Amino acid sequence: MAKDLNFKCSECGAAFGKWSGKCDSCGAWNTIVEEVPLAAGPSKKSLGGKRGKSITLTDLSTQAEAPPRTMSGVAELDRVLGGGLVEASALLVGGDPGIGKSTLLLQAAARFARNGLKVIYVSGEESAAQVQMRARRLGLEQSPVMLASETNLRDILTTLENEQPDLAIIDSIQTMWADNVDSAPGSVSQVRSSAHELTNFAKRRNMAVVMVGHVTKEGAIAGPRVVEHMVDTVLYFEGERGHQFRILRAVKNRFGPADEIGVFEMTGKGLAEVKNPSALFLSDRGKPAPGSVVFAGIEGSRPMLCEIQALVAPSPHSQPRRSVVGWDGGRLAMILAVLESRCGVPFTGLDVYLNVAGGMRIGEPAADLAVAAALVSAREDAALPQEAVVFGEISLSGALRPVVQTENRLKEAQKLGFTSAITPQQNKKVAVDGINQRQTNDLAGFVEDIFGPRS
Ligand code: TYD
Ligand code: MG
Repeated sequence: MAKDLNFKCSECGAAFGKWSGKCDSCGAWNTIVEEVPLAAGPSKKSLGGKRGKSITLTDLSTQAEAPPRTMSGVAELDRVLGGGLVEASALLVGGDPGIGKSTLLLQAAARFARNGLKVIYVSGEESAAQVQMRARRLGLEQSPVMLASETNLRDILTTLENEQPDLAIIDSIQTMWADNVDSAPGSVSQVRSSAHELTNFAKRRNMAVVMVGHVTKEGAIAGPRVVEHMVDTVLYFEGERGHQFRILRAVKNRFGPADEIGVFEMTGKGLAEVKNPSALFLSDRGKPAPGSVVFAGIEGSRPMLCEIQALVAPSPHSQPRRSVVGWDGGRLAMILAVLESRCGVPFTGLDVYLNVAGGMRIGEPAADLAVAAALVSAREDAALPQEAVVFGEISLSGALRPVVQTENRLKEAQKLGFTSAITPQQNKKVAVDGINQRQTNDLAGFVEDIFGPRS
């Protein structure tokens, strides 16, 4: 019989069949503890003969109303939250250090406080004086937000218990220290247990809690992904360091749609919301530029145009460079392969650079056709018609597949002054006034149509 793996490392979660002093998986010492599984009632293995009680089961219908929400008044933030902050919910805001999480949350705290919530902001990273300096810089020093600089979770929970706020902001979860857990702040078990305590407290006391989490190099919220499972909503605050634009993205939301984004600009006086992101992600479109293509995308519930730029140059290296910013590198390799083997456009011996303008990151496969168009346009040194937007998914056979929300994409293009669109063939044609559609159903045909016949 297989041995039960009841011994778990409290640092990395690896499971073992027996106790040992050192975890073979992460190398930590004295972290392995036995976890006895709970056995169900009549089983012989049941814990000390104790039996669980039977729980009450109900059906799916409910008379309860949707939980009340509070708007911050910042449309970009409220949209990402799914229509305002939900009472008694737990949120995690992740992002690289220095991207602006503390700034965003201090501004949000001030807004919610102004809209009648009792807000406590606990900083474990900065002193009260530092946070006050930031508040002054943001012009928020008169806001009725209560502030503390503290890392001891027991003291924080006691304070929250006494003060009974509507919203508590914990900046950051990695600095919290629960004295009942025997490891250093920032370790997996500390982060997990602090997040667990705070989430439970929030549900019990009807308080919303926002936890800040730092992101590791690999992009996961440092420590365990389990924090993401515990909370109701996970938001990522992202952006390219050199750019002033920041994107708040809902990756999980139990109270609203995921994938919704809010766009902000980092200014000298904090974050300002950007109401028309399409205009912002299109760089100056003066004269036709080879290698530049406008993609009509969908981010969450709204359409957004952005510019995809490619540069192709003879490579001095035996292994040519493939460099991507704002898009998936694997997907780029796939499109290069399809162009090469299905359309007769080789990229051998050429360096390829691909960039999404403005620090935007695109995940949609609908951008395939725009990427392919940018690559061919750069390689042939021939610009696409300037007034055209492009979208469509490419399959490995070189066929183009229709994408969702065609009408919304075309309407956004029309709103921003574009007059034509290159799109995949649809089953049912969607027409938008003022947009002339060129439909193709395979990539080779598209390349030939725009850039002339291949030899
Ligand atoms: P911060 O909110 O401290 O980032 P995080 O909490 O994610 O680590 O923001 C840090 C950066 O933002 C810092 O480099 C300075 C810049 N910043 C501005 O440009 N304008 C401002 O008004 C503020 C407060 C910060
Ligand atoms: Mg910070």
